[in-house]
Amino acid sequence: MRPLASEILIPEQRIAERVRELALEIERDTPPDGEIAALIVLKGAFVFGADLLRALRRPTRVGFLEIHRQGDHEREVEFIFTHPFPIEDRDVLVVEDILDTGVTMTALLERLRARRPARVRTAVLLDKRCRREIDCPVEYVGFEIPDRWVVGYGLDDDERYRNLPAIGYVEDPR
Ligand code: IMP
Ligand code: MG
Repeated sequence: MRPLASEILIPEQRIAERVRELALEIERDTPPDGEIAALIVLKGAFVFGADLLRALRRPTRVGFLEIHRQGDHEREVEFIFTHPFPIEDRDVLVVEDILDTGVTMTALLERLRARRPARVRTAVLLDKRCRREIDCPVEYVGFEIPDRWVVGYGLDDDERYRNLPAIGYVEDPR
């Protein structure tokens, strides 16, 4: 089963350490009794979100959101909340798998801000900074990675490999 061990980019142990560090960073920026409204972006962030939120020692509500982009070069983005998730006056933490061009995240943040949250912060596990088309500042970043297609720990290649515990490379499908 691919990816082979030689293609592993970030081993399981390293991910676990970094996720704990991110949780500490988020805690440092959140009052001790401050409630967080965490919004996990499906499907890619389901593993990262589960680990991050379990490491986070703050009262937390959890919502899920699916994002559909119409095509690679299409800027049309559709957001589907799996359940109603009120964010007005709440401290929102968007949890996303990977920041690439920044198109998806920028559109999402714009949409969320229109619903008047108290604040919105973003945690992304991976950042392909070299691919950025839109400047999109995020508060918490796990790892900066090169421009190759990565899978595992929630990330897929045509829906495969999401369940791999480590993050590895596969041949770029783009
Ligand atoms: P963008 O920032 O709008 O270009 O898109 C980011 C989204 O593209 C992520 O949320 C992923 O769903 C997907 N994506 C980008 N690069 C990868 C990758 O290397 N592996 C798996 N999904 C990726
Ligand atoms: Mg995604």
